[in-house]
Amino acid sequence: MRIGLLTSGGDCPGLNAVIRGAVLNGVKTYDDEFVGFRDGWRGVVEGDIMDLPRTRVRGLARTGGTILGTSRTNPFDGPQGGPENISVMLERHAIDAIVAIGGEGTLAGAKRLSDAGLPVVGVPKTIDNDLNATDYTFGFDTAVSIATDAMDRLRTTGESHHRCMVAEVMGRHVGWIALHSGMSAGAHAVLIPEQKVPMTQVADWVREVHERGRSPLVVVAEGFIPEGLDEVVHEKGLEQDGRPRLGGIGEYVTHEIERMTGIEARNTTLGHIQRGGAPTGFDRVLATRMGMAVVDLVHDRQWGKMVGLDSTDITRVDFEEALSGLKTVPQARWDEAKVLFGR
Ligand code: F6P
Repeated sequence: MRIGLLTSGGDCPGLNAVIRGAVLNGVKTYDDEFVGFRDGWRGVVEGDIMDLPRTRVRGLARTGGTILGTSRTNPFDGPQGGPENISVMLERHAIDAIVAIGGEGTLAGAKRLSDAGLPVVGVPKTIDNDLNATDYTFGFDTAVSIATDAMDRLRTTGESHHRCMVAEVMGRHVGWIALHSGMSAGAHAVLIPEQKVPMTQVADWVREVHERGRSPLVVVAEGFIPEGLDEVVHEKGLEQDGRPRLGGIGEYVTHEIERMTGIEARNTTLGHIQRGGAPTGFDRVLATRMGMAVVDLVHDRQWGKMVGLDSTDITRVDFEEALSGLKTVPQARWDEAKVLFGR
């Protein structure tokens, strides 16, 4: 078969490992040929493709970013978009299947195309780990590891200056990165979008730690909103275009801690550093396995499905299941983490 791969949406460590896994399995097991669509769905609607021979994927598992490029283009937009045009493009380039590697938005586009009868399958991708129907997505472990390393560094400078250090991590809708990196770095408070915590409680946790002579570390997910602040988030400039503004809530929480406790505090927004660079070993393995498995999915003509992870097994799930809502941090995980906060 001749298979077209695309990476779409925000990038993520492990994308290149998926591409390599797919090409190696396809070439070795099925004698497949591969092409890549440049910059996500843009390459699909414009027929902008590149050849992906086996030699092109050599050494890719250890690299960050995506060799195919990415964009947030929607496959239904513009005069060249939509299933009929894409079908003509596939025929023109003799492509038998599309593998869409992406997050919620990408997979929603992939689902609409497969519902319209196109041969489309998917690989889930997000550093936020908020996709349903898979226990983990590659990129998450790398993001947690980068954030942990950053927090370890914040701890030493915080201790020297007797300051409260605040680290803002990614997580627009869910707090998985904050929860895991905070627990890993021994944070004294973790603030996530799923839990409304009043600033008075945050100030109490910080005070308790400071009184013990330690430097408090507070981890905030970018989508966290303190209790009672919903109405004023926009007014206070914590959002941009209806989305959390990177640095917005970190700065706000830091300022409030200083104001309420009198303890000197500093904010560090980790931002896109969490998405850059080489994937961890865990993510390389997960991404490689998913890339290999999605080629088997194509050969079984399981259109409308994506690969997932269930415990240690690679599974096949309907796009619908993956898109049935965000995978948020359960109450039990929050209650467990909370035992470690403050004193
Ligand atoms: O990949 C998801 C995510 O990392 C979110 O946590 C974050 O809000 C967003 O991407 C940032 O996206 P962009 O690169 O478009 O600023």
